[in-house]
Amino acid sequence: MEQKRNGFGTRIGFELAAAGSAVGLGNLWGFPYKASANGGAAYLFVYLACIFLVGAIAMLAEFYIGRRSKANPVSAYKAISPNWGWIGLLAVVVPALIMCYYYVLGGYTVKYALNSFVGNAGRFERFAGNVGDVILHTVVFALVALAIVTAGVRHGIEKSAKLLLPTMLVILIVISSFSLLLGAGVQEGLAYYLKPDFSKLTGSGILSAMGQAFFSLSLGCGAMITYGSYSGKQVNLARSTAVVCILDGVLTFMVGLAVFPALFHYAAVSGSGLSELGMGGTGLMFITLPMVFEDMGAGGQILSLLYFTMAAIAATTSVISILEVVTQFIIQRHKVDRTRAVSVVTLVCVALSIPVGLSLGLSLNGSSELQIFGKNLLELLDSVTNTLLMPLCALLACIAVGWKLPKSERFTGFSGVMLRFITPALIVVIGLFGALDIVFPAAEGARAFSSDGFAVVVIACIIVLLCVLAYRIFLRDRDTGSNADEAEANALRKEKLSAGLQRGWQRPE
Ligand code: TRP
Repeated sequence: MEQKRNGFGTRIGFELAAAGSAVGLGNLWGFPYKASANGGAAYLFVYLACIFLVGAIAMLAEFYIGRRSKANPVSAYKAISPNWGWIGLLAVVVPALIMCYYYVLGGYTVKYALNSFVGNAGRFERFAGNVGDVILHTVVFALVALAIVTAGVRHGIEKSAKLLLPTMLVILIVISSFSLLLGAGVQEGLAYYLKPDFSKLTGSGILSAMGQAFFSLSLGCGAMITYGSYSGKQVNLARSTAVVCILDGVLTFMVGLAVFPALFHYAAVSGSGLSELGMGGTGLMFITLPMVFEDMGAGGQILSLLYFTMAAIAATTSVISILEVVTQFIIQRHKVDRTRAVSVVTLVCVALSIPVGLSLGLSLNGSSELQIFGKNLLELLDSVTNTLLMPLCALLACIAVGWKLPKSERFTGFSGVMLRFITPALIVVIGLFGALDIVFPAAEGARAFSSDGFAVVVIACIIVLLCVLAYRIFLRDRDTGSNADEAEANALRKEKLSAGLQRGWQRPE
């Protein structure tokens, strides 16, 4: 009963929520430009292989860690070993950092969706540089996430996932069908996306695909541990993992079907070269696509509305998983009710996201103000979390489940071998090469030491160190709670509220 009250009500709800967390800006914004920078189909192929071979195993491990403890990541790792709780803390801190820039990007999608009929093309720099506008949309986006998470796992996260994920799927089907029917250029676009040319795939392309797969599956931080902790006993985790990975893979594949034919169509019609479209760059979604939509006239406006509404939905179902990780921890560690926990987390992260949005806007407009170590704050947070801390967390999750749990609980057979050897080895490779790329970035063919890059690695190490220290000092010997605490905290709040109300009635002043 307790589990039901606190957690997901149905298996489908759990799977859709996890898939909603997975499908996000990583798929809509990251995947297309990374795929086109790394040889199209070959990248897609490696990406899908990573999802099903490596990502799925790590996801299963994270679900399992959460489910066996029915608690926040800190308690979950503590239950594996009292010395391992710091990993859980890291798995709470990383999402908090991600949230600070995810809010900003979510705000961008809201702005773009609302702006579809006015036209977004050519407005990117102006919007990005307009502090008030960016903050306004960031706040709107954050408030939607706040509302959903406040309503709770079952009534907020699960319900919204059941509504939003199918909506997203329908929109994506409409857009990709439309895109495939555009005529000129579609053939070329499809060939580019679906005919693999492995000669174009470099080592760094493979690593980028692996990293992308991890980010897209929301691995390497507390999200899947937290969602796993809310899954009921009736859920078969292996099956759910398969469902989530398939949904993520299929949706990503369809994003490519929507984007590439449209881009090649535009190139064919406007006579512009592909390089002019900035296909391999981060501006693909926010600069190039609006241009493509605008070129299509009224139909393009509707398409733009659909695309950016879908992006806003995808960003929402993702950000709530990040928000829930931190909220769950605060509720359980401090025994406060959900409303209070989620409000505090939102307030702090929105405040932190303001300088991030500002810094991004400045750098998009060619200014290097508000940059640290040669990067704007979004890039900085992104490289610290995605390239370094997330692989670390994912690695530790695999080691915890593969090696640290009592023998009776370990995975056997194929998944056991993958979990103990192959997956950790691949994650180490991603992490090391990612770090190498940061510290010794390739500049004109040769690699040169970058002190800025080195500083980024140092920051990541400091964050890990702080987590270890904070855990030892503040959490190791204290109660860090479990899912059961939430019901108590909420009940207590209700009691206090009604007691307060009664007092108010008896002695009106
Ligand atoms: N998977 C999401 C995306 O593709 C991002 C995301 C949501 C995430 N929750 C996460 C990434 C937790 C890491 C950890 O955009």
